[in-house]
Amino acid sequence: MIQFPKGFVWGSATSSYQIEGAWNKDGKGPSIWDAFCQIPGKVHAGDTGNLACDHYHKLEEDIALMKAMGLKAYRFSIAWARILPKGKGEINLAGIQFYQNLIDQLLTQGIEPWVTLYHWDLPLALQFEDDGWLGEATVDHFAHYADICFEHFGDRVKNWITINEAWVVAMLGYGQGVFAPGRISNSEPYLAGHHLLKAHAKAVHIYRKKYQSTQKGRIGITNNCDWREPLTDTPKDKAAAERALEFFLGWFADPIYKGAYPETMIERVGDRLPSFTPAELELVKDSSDFFGLNHYTTMYAADADGKTMAASVYGNGGLSEDQNVNLSVDPNWEQTAMQWSIVPWGCSKLLTWIDARYDRPEIVITENGGAFNDQLVAGKVEDPQRIKYYQTYLEECYKVTKKGVNLSAYFAWSLMDNFEWASGYEKRFGLHYVDFDTLERTPKSSAKWLTNVIKNNGF
Ligand code: GAL
Repeated sequence: MIQFPKGFVWGSATSSYQIEGAWNKDGKGPSIWDAFCQIPGKVHAGDTGNLACDHYHKLEEDIALMKAMGLKAYRFSIAWARILPKGKGEINLAGIQFYQNLIDQLLTQGIEPWVTLYHWDLPLALQFEDDGWLGEATVDHFAHYADICFEHFGDRVKNWITINEAWVVAMLGYGQGVFAPGRISNSEPYLAGHHLLKAHAKAVHIYRKKYQSTQKGRIGITNNCDWREPLTDTPKDKAAAERALEFFLGWFADPIYKGAYPETMIERVGDRLPSFTPAELELVKDSSDFFGLNHYTTMYAADADGKTMAASVYGNGGLSEDQNVNLSVDPNWEQTAMQWSIVPWGCSKLLTWIDARYDRPEIVITENGGAFNDQLVAGKVEDPQRIKYYQTYLEECYKVTKKGVNLSAYFAWSLMDNFEWASGYEKRFGLHYVDFDTLERTPKSSAKWLTNVIKNNGF
């Protein structure tokens, strides 16, 4: 019998661009994803988030789905360009109103809102005018936008997440160019990442100074990390796996928990890695009230011996060269529809690694889940593979909580099928099936399974 600690938070997650639609409704400005989707070849089948799940017009219905599942918490993101259509300047009151409604309705149903301020949909104006995350000005624009959100929503929102997955923004947006804004470089990711960290820290500083004592909430960042298992027992491969984790998670978590970028990054990246001033570091250090983690998969890591693999799905050539690590998977591992290997033990190893490296932080799994080729058959969606995914990953989570790892919450990705970035609507991560012609939602068997887990606080 698996029984999670009392008070464990069970939730599900989404993000604005992936579900809202209404891309130009009620005064919303365009985001870099609105623009990116228009470039031929960037997104599978030319899909866009213009309509997505039309969550903007289906709030009540979607909250009813959450309620039916017994969710205790719901993690969503605010579309910056709905609040500030140009990323700065005038506030769009209709945007404020939309999120007021969402928050109020969640609270009425007893569901705790967990709000992400930035889940990749940067206002397009900031890309044109301020160079997006390459520009120092974006740091201040983000802090200002965060301030507006705290002011308007902070009386009811007690859990804030500044940035979702800075690694993805930096690497896939500025390194490999596969996500918006689509830039390819081996130096820009480090600059973008640096600005993301500073933006996070400034927003946290504002929250703590102006709001935290009265609003009594908490604020943190969510980073993503796969587990990296040494391919062999050799000291070289063990060091390679450790290095890979430092380049992945340490890049963003070390400055916050240790006050510096990992030594190995400083050495290997050289002057492409910016440095913090002492005043900036003071803001960055200890700037997260909890350790937000998105985790999906695992790979083997081996020392590359200077012969790094070419740019591929396994990572940008530039970054791979910096790490001197080659990644691979075991062909016997089962995979999700994203071709991500299903390796539950990687989850417990990663949680244990975080626990040790960052001195036992409170960890919140803000995303975990799998995409499978779900089909609607006679009004039903049977997704046993997803149930198995959740079950086996949750078993590993449970194991580490038993050993004292302070894991306090788990958010399943995702509440419903949605716009899966460059994969468009082809990849389905949802607990609810969405028919993208009719926009009808149908609970999958995994939603029913998770409902029971939540009810019993275990399985
Ligand atoms: C995360 C991201 C989500 C979702 C998920 C599945 O990286 O935060 O938006 O797309 O991956 O790919």
